[in-house]
Amino acid sequence: MSRPVILRVPPLSPQLHAAVGERYDAVDPADLPTRAGDVVGIVSSNAGTVDAALIASLPRLGVIANHGVGYDNIDVTAALARGVAVSNTPDVLDDAVAETALALLLAVRRRVVVADRFVRAGRWPEGAFPLTDQVAGSRVGILGLGRIGRAVATRLEAFGCAVSYHNRREVPDAPYPYAASPVALAAGVDSLVVVVPGGAGTEALVDRAVLDALGPDGVLINIARGSVVDEPALVAALQEGRLGGAGLDVFADEPQVPAGLVALDTAVLLPHIASGTHPTRAAMRQLTLDNLASWLADGTLLTPVPE
Ligand code: DGY
Repeated sequence: MSRPVILRVPPLSPQLHAAVGERYDAVDPADLPTRAGDVVGIVSSNAGTVDAALIASLPRLGVIANHGVGYDNIDVTAALARGVAVSNTPDVLDDAVAETALALLLAVRRRVVVADRFVRAGRWPEGAFPLTDQVAGSRVGILGLGRIGRAVATRLEAFGCAVSYHNRREVPDAPYPYAASPVALAAGVDSLVVVVPGGAGTEALVDRAVLDALGPDGVLINIARGSVVDEPALVAALQEGRLGGAGLDVFADEPQVPAGLVALDTAVLLPHIASGTHPTRAAMRQLTLDNLASWLADGTLLTPVPE
């Protein structure tokens, strides 16, 4: 019996690329001129675009299994309009992503990266490293109180932080004070952690007004999507000292990072690695493959993206 034809949209991790090849008749973009008519499924990741043109070019496509909780790389509207099912990988990455938010907040507030450079440059004998702020006891706002937002909040509670949040809709059982807007949230906290999904609805949600409300002692942490923050406004706020610091795992035009950010000691920059731990990536890979297998078996998904 012939095996289902699955398109691997790059980039995929070597393990996921290989796993799809072991299980299915895997094709890659270079094969599409001759195989587009056979493709029934796509495996993609957050860095690989699945747009309306690609979806339209695959007449037998029925499922897109995305490796990642975010799915702003996919034109979900075009997919669902065509009856193409879309899955993502929620839950399994909450701990790793929340841990990265804390790592960034601690690194910015305690100036961990700058202090490391200070030691390596042999500057310790010249005198003590300047004192820093601390996370314990500070006020932290969560922008987006979904599963990951809650995982960040519980970790902040362990640090004795006062947590508050803003969400598209107030969360009925949330044990934290609700702020009516991103600006209102930023105005009442020392640090703001961005955890909302990317996409058109959240584009530049963190704009100059939010950054100015955080103020010169404020810190912005972004582990969501670069598109959620007005990046030029962020660079300008940091350069002009209107914002105290930023910890960023994501950028508007990855893997490009604005030179203005690279030049700043007040920014800690990561290459989109929030979910990049061994156990989490293994779980994400498994869930991606399980979604694909489930759809191929009976047309259902374990974790469909919300419509
Ligand atoms: C996701 O799952 O959307 C993350 O950004 C990947 O690290």
